[in-house]
Amino acid sequence: MKNQIVRTAIFPVAGLGTRLLPATKATPKELLPVIDKPLIQFAIDEVRAAGIERVIFVTHASKTALSRYLMDDARLRERLIRQGKPGLAEVLRDTALDLHDTDVIFVTQHDPDGLGDAVLRARDYVLDGPVAVVLPDDLILDGAGCLSEMTAAYPGCGCGHLVATMQVPKAQTDKYGILSVTRQDGRIVYARSVVEKPDPEKAPSQMAAVGRYILDPAIFDALARQGPGKDGEVQLTDAITSGAPTVGIAGFRFSGRRFDCGSKRGLLAATLFRARADPAYADIIGEAAPVTNFIPVG
Ligand code: UTP
Repeated sequence: MKNQIVRTAIFPVAGLGTRLLPATKATPKELLPVIDKPLIQFAIDEVRAAGIERVIFVTHASKTALSRYLMDDARLRERLIRQGKPGLAEVLRDTALDLHDTDVIFVTQHDPDGLGDAVLRARDYVLDGPVAVVLPDDLILDGAGCLSEMTAAYPGCGCGHLVATMQVPKAQTDKYGILSVTRQDGRIVYARSVVEKPDPEKAPSQMAAVGRYILDPAIFDALARQGPGKDGEVQLTDAITSGAPTVGIAGFRFSGRRFDCGSKRGLLAATLFRARADPAYADIIGEAAPVTNFIPVG
């Protein structure tokens, strides 16, 4: 069923994934698998489950493998059927996107000038209303579907910008945008700003923004006005903060488990997490230590 309120999702996938080099030299980070499913597929499935109509990939010229993964490969499917593997052929058919569909859009970000810059590039292609931004390397498993939860909560939160949030250890605030919290109401955490990667002693809270956002369209004007921020990049968090007095900012405490799959530890933790849930791998991972690090970073 189509989502009546949030109709567009932006996937900013133009980053160079340097933390995972050399693996990401020729393979885009978003195509790295957690067992057999690439990160981008988890993100697409989450967006589809939320009833999003239009998807916009903001990508880099070097990442041609991404569109090759997303497009249908009828020859491969036919071959699989001839080989007696109709199940696999079906998986390929179900996951492929129609790249000629007007609701599947690719935009190039020539230089990785920041997440905010990547989101701004999608501006001309978004449908009316608030937009979702989904970072595929932030993998959220084991919940009710983070974006579905957020789109359900959005109309009642009373804010234009809704950001997925979770508590992180104090020592790790300098890895995240941190919410300056004013009050909390159930799973909604109201905030006056989002501070980009503050030192632990200066962090206004331990509530971190992670890679799911529903943003009021005013975000685009804010990004267009804004210059580079921390690390010389156009920061999405700065544009969100500038909307505090007009549209308001809230965090949403989602129910799933989040893995930073842009990092080696996070990718490994997500793989172990999925493997543990599948009896087919019990003999392999039986000896491995339990996944205790809830928020792998680094
Ligand atoms: P990250 O900082 O995690 O991605 O950005 P990165 O730059 O690829 O990673 P490292 O630090 O070099 O390993 C978060 C998200 O924002 C996108 C990334 O693709 C990722 O999905 N992004 C970031 C862009 O699309 N463009 C940018 O200029 C920066």
